[in-house]
Amino acid sequence: MENKNEIMFRSKVFIEYPNVIKRGAVKNIGSVLKRWVSPQRNLVVLSDNKVASIYSASVLKSLEQNGWNDTKFVEFPSGELSKSVDGFNHIINEFITKKIHRHCIIINLGGGVTCDLGGYVAASYMRGLDYINVPTTLMGLVDAGVGGKVAINHHVGKNLIGSFYHPLAVLIDADVLATLPEVQLRNGMAEALKVSLISSLELFEYIEKEALGLIDPAKIEDKIDRVIFDSVRIKVNYLIPDPYEKNLVRKLNFGHTFAHPLETACGFNLPHGSAVAIGMAIATRVAMAREFISGTEALRILNVISSLGLPTELPHLNPEEIWDKHTYVIRSVRGNNIHFVLPTSIGSVRIINDLKKNEFLKAYLDIKYTNTINHKHPSVSSNLQLG
Ligand SMILES: NC(=O)c1ccc[n+]([C@@H]2O[C@H](COP(=O)([O-])OP(=O)(O)OC[C@H]3O[C@@H](n4cnc5c(N)ncnc54)[C@H](O)[C@@H]3O)[C@@H](O)[C@H]2O)c1
Ligand SMILES: [Zn+2]
Repeated sequence: MENKNEIMFRSKVFIEYPNVIKRGAVKNIGSVLKRWVSPQRNLVVLSDNKVASIYSASVLKSLEQNGWNDTKFVEFPSGELSKSVDGFNHIINEFITKKIHRHCIIINLGGGVTCDLGGYVAASYMRGLDYINVPTTLMGLVDAGVGGKVAINHHVGKNLIGSFYHPLAVLIDADVLATLPEVQLRNGMAEALKVSLISSLELFEYIEKEALGLIDPAKIEDKIDRVIFDSVRIKVNYLIPDPYEKNLVRKLNFGHTFAHPLETACGFNLPHGSAVAIGMAIATRVAMAREFISGTEALRILNVISSLGLPTELPHLNPEEIWDKHTYVIRSVRGNNIHFVLPTSIGSVRIINDLKKNEFLKAYLDIKYTNTINHKHPSVSSNLQLG
């Protein structure tokens, strides 16, 4: 019997698009795009000012050579602070001034900030425009460019305003790393390490062995392709069955439960990769205290975080304040419980939903204590040792 007050709309989830992993794709963007996009569709390229200064001329030239003669360009100041309501407004105003219409395609050419912000603009402006991600940081290549999670920050919470809105395509070109500063390589490696820890011992062992080369601009060229390919493959495999993240306790959130509160507490001045590294270190400590993971494996995880030049704690932050003031968003998303992804061995994790404040505080303070000992006795080891 049909209910008179209800008309059901049912649509099969049909999402399909390529994540193209191809060296040279940015330099030859026009010929690569031609595979899916007709030159009849107008394009608007969105970049932060740093990326624009390096890549805009060559990208616009390649587009022009392939038939896109009227491509618009919109720029915003580089940095996480642009991933905000003000940053969003700035771009919307530019779009209106430049007469961007519904049939334009947005090309997000930049790091994770550009992909998240441009993706959210794509989801909202005129009720939705098509977009293509062209990540230019390691963070973007291995993670942020992939998966259709788009968002901006609010001062009370990281990624508080956002959507799940998938792109037409993602172009993943490791050639962009040639211009990327070392600090950004470290940041990106935090996310690659994350995916290895949730599902691939092989990838973890590769990162462990090659850690120094993977954060060295002079050596990364020969070593990074495997990391990018495996990270994207693993992420896509998680997303295919759950493209709108209905399963809210996804393993991909490993390290992020406290990364986001830490970033919020730092006024978005803490690089996302550093926050994720600290988040993974806290999770590893909690897992060890609960005897989910052996001390040896926990030590290996914490050592690789340090070998990648990433932090495991922030000396100036008060963990009690983090828990009391900045877990609002993660609680709201998860129905007041904090779901927490813990490693059980390298390459596998389990999820708990009963994390206690004192467990968090103990994990945070234990890491701080260990780091202090190592700082006082740097000759013992430059890496972490478990106390
Ligand atoms: N949506 C997702 O699934 C997802 C996943 C991971 C991270 N993120 C988000 O990504 C953001 C962080 O991304 P990010 O670390 O790429 O930051 P970012 O986009 O700010 O880039 C970092 C810096 O590198 C510069 N830069 C970018 N490409 C360059 C290049 N090729 N050469 C020289 N300089 C270059 C930028 O101008 C910027 O100053 C965070 O907001 C995080 O929340 C989203
Ligand atoms: Zn992340």
